[in-house]
Amino acid sequence: MKPIVKPIVKPVALVAACLVVFGLSLFAQRGGGAGAQAAAGAQGAGEEEESPLGQAMDGLQSGMRAIGRLLADPDKKDEASSTAREMQNYVLIAMQLEPAAPDGVEAGRHQLDFRMEMHAVLGELLALELAVREGDAEGAKTRFSTLNGLKKAGHDRFRVDD
Ligand code: HEM
Repeated sequence: MKPIVKPIVKPVALVAACLVVFGLSLFAQRGGGAGAQAAAGAQGAGEEEESPLGQAMDGLQSGMRAIGRLLADPDKKDEASSTAREMQNYVLIAMQLEPAAPDGVEAGRHQLDFRMEMHAVLGELLALELAVREGDAEGAKTRFSTLNGLKKAGHDRFRVDD
């Protein structure tokens, strides 16, 4: 006679396997900091493939979100400064890329202006990292809001679809 548990075990094993796969996919999306989130954002099913500059910007954006929370907690200095450091790397990547120039604007000049703006972002991120390390909470907040201003100005001028 066949054991009575057999038909019950199979569906249970199937559900367990689905939960493991679902759990692993959540872990993969959440576990790797700004870079992993940027990569995950670039690979959504059916989405248009994101440009390399868009991916670097997504990395910066994840960093801004994370650092906004970390600055509120004096015990998170190490995490805040390593996030600022990670964001600097995204700026360095962005500076090697070239946003398309609008009609009538000389591409070389447009890209030089873009690098100068990103260089200003880099300077603010370095100053933010220093402020965090030195426990200068007010200075860090000021740098954070300057970064938001640079983002807005940069998008107004350089982002075609913003
Ligand atoms: C902290 C500063 C900044 C943050 C957090 C940020 C964030 C972002 C985000 C989230 C996107 C959309 C990416 C996507 O398509 O999914 C984007 C796109 C873009 N940003 Fe920024 N940005 C910042 C500063 C700047 C600055 C200073 C400039 C110009 C000098 C700039 C130029 C652009 C351009 C050209 C795009 C379009 C890229 C593309 O679709 O190929 N951004 N940014």
